[in-house]
Amino acid sequence: MDPLHEIEVLMRAKYPIVYIVTWEERRVEEALRQVSQKLQRNLHSWSVTQGMKPPVNRTTGPVKPTSLPGELEALALVHEAPEYTVFLLKDFHVYMKDSRVVRLMRDLANRLRGRTQTLFIVSPNLNLPLELEKDVTVMEFPFPGPEDIEKQIQEAVAAVKDNPNLKVDLSAKQTEMLVRSAQGLTADEIESALARSLVETKTLSVEQIIEEKKQIVRKTGILQFYPADQGLNDVGGLDLLKEWLNRREKSFTDAAREFGIPYPKGVLLLGVQGCGKSLVAKAISAAYSLPMLKMDVGRVFGSLVGQSEENMRKAIRIAESLAPCILWIDELEKGFAGMSGGGVSDSGTTARVFSTFLTWMQDKTKPVFIVATANDVSTLPPELLRKGRFDEIFFVDLPDLDERKDIFKIHLAKRKRDPRKFKVPELAKETDGYSGAEIEQIVVGALNHAFDEGRELSYQDLSGEAKAQVPLSRTMAEDIAALRAWAKLRARPSATRKD
Ligand SMILES: Nc1ncnc2c1ncn2[C@@H]1O[C@H](COP(=O)(O)OP(=O)(O)O)[C@@H](O)[C@H]1O
Ligand SMILES: [Mg+2]
Repeated sequence: MDPLHEIEVLMRAKYPIVYIVTWEERRVEEALRQVSQKLQRNLHSWSVTQGMKPPVNRTTGPVKPTSLPGELEALALVHEAPEYTVFLLKDFHVYMKDSRVVRLMRDLANRLRGRTQTLFIVSPNLNLPLELEKDVTVMEFPFPGPEDIEKQIQEAVAAVKDNPNLKVDLSAKQTEMLVRSAQGLTADEIESALARSLVETKTLSVEQIIEEKKQIVRKTGILQFYPADQGLNDVGGLDLLKEWLNRREKSFTDAAREFGIPYPKGVLLLGVQGCGKSLVAKAISAAYSLPMLKMDVGRVFGSLVGQSEENMRKAIRIAESLAPCILWIDELEKGFAGMSGGGVSDSGTTARVFSTFLTWMQDKTKPVFIVATANDVSTLPPELLRKGRFDEIFFVDLPDLDERKDIFKIHLAKRKRDPRKFKVPELAKETDGYSGAEIEQIVVGALNHAFDEGRELSYQDLSGEAKAQVPLSRTMAEDIAALRAWAKLRARPSATRKD
């Protein structure tokens, strides 16, 4: 919904207190100003540094503040104000930890209900005390839409078009590309990206806007751009999973949209450690030629209260702004462990962050393809596995004989060795129960051994190295059996089993 329209509806419907979550104070203030003007209300804004500012275009505003009213005085002023007033309190969430403030706000909500008066709070993060949950309406302020961005670009162009050193006569196509690349940035961020672009390239370039996004990705500390350096050819075995992924690629096209197919949501890969789950995640990015963001769930949980939810929202918005893209969440269970067991006592932060994420997964319309991996299913919240979250859940088991051949070949070839020289079928037979990671380790170990002895690698080196290693599956036999039993009922196999 258009934010102006939403604000107007809330004011007209006499909602007493509205909490707007955004970094974009200026845009909110401008929107409130426009709506107030239209509805003929007097808008006052308050901040701790500026105090209460009377309406801009009124000389005798109904509210006459003293010098610098603090938060309690600000609320009192709202309380005493006549009808047809609108208040905007900036950064007020900080004060909402104080029980007196909370009490006053509850009283205010009662008083304002049914009156033609609205109190707006704007803050970059949502931090609403439980007591106020029923009295306060939360509104998300959307990022500038395509029209807003286009307007902003045109303004930037108009401001500098007489400067002979700059080249800003953009074609329609160039403008469209700029608008698309700037989506998901705040108005301020767009402004700095455009300014920086003018300084550095003498024109407005998409690359500069992408640079700005990379900056933001870095600043979040939660997301990182992941280069697509491995393809599905680097993955041995897992034929069914690869086939599924290849078929899904088509669902990203416009033709699929026209056919009535929704964007793919994502895939969850769970299974035995070291069998290529993370590897496949990385390979999808190259296979689909889409940028990939990796989310560090552990880092979502910031140290400050309330920051975690804001972090998660920020990560989601950045991922969406880069769509179509892939969002990789490795070892999902680590971030959301114990979610449903009730073992975690962080006053519900994990639960709230998790539910923000789940809701997004359920409702997202932007083409952000989620690839999540998990090694341990016992701690995974069951809500995650429900239909509609992922398109499919795959179980990645230890490689069978043929898959092990494949994996040996891939890793020998990667180290510039001709696989035909090393009796790969023998090696595959000797390594029953070894994971892909362990097979890679055998190849690397054997290479080191041969190098130490100053000769070329031989089959014996590889075979000897295999015997010297104890695969994890031997020590973890029980865990793996449990995982298999679990997966049999809930997940799709990622490979055709032949042995
Ligand atoms: N199926 C496979 N094909 C090729 N290499 C593999 C395979 N499985 C594991 N490996 C090797 O082991 C490394 C670690 O595997 P990884 O994908 O991190 O396992 P997981 O995420 O399932 O624990 C990979 O980077 C890759 O080099
Ligand atoms: Mg992994």
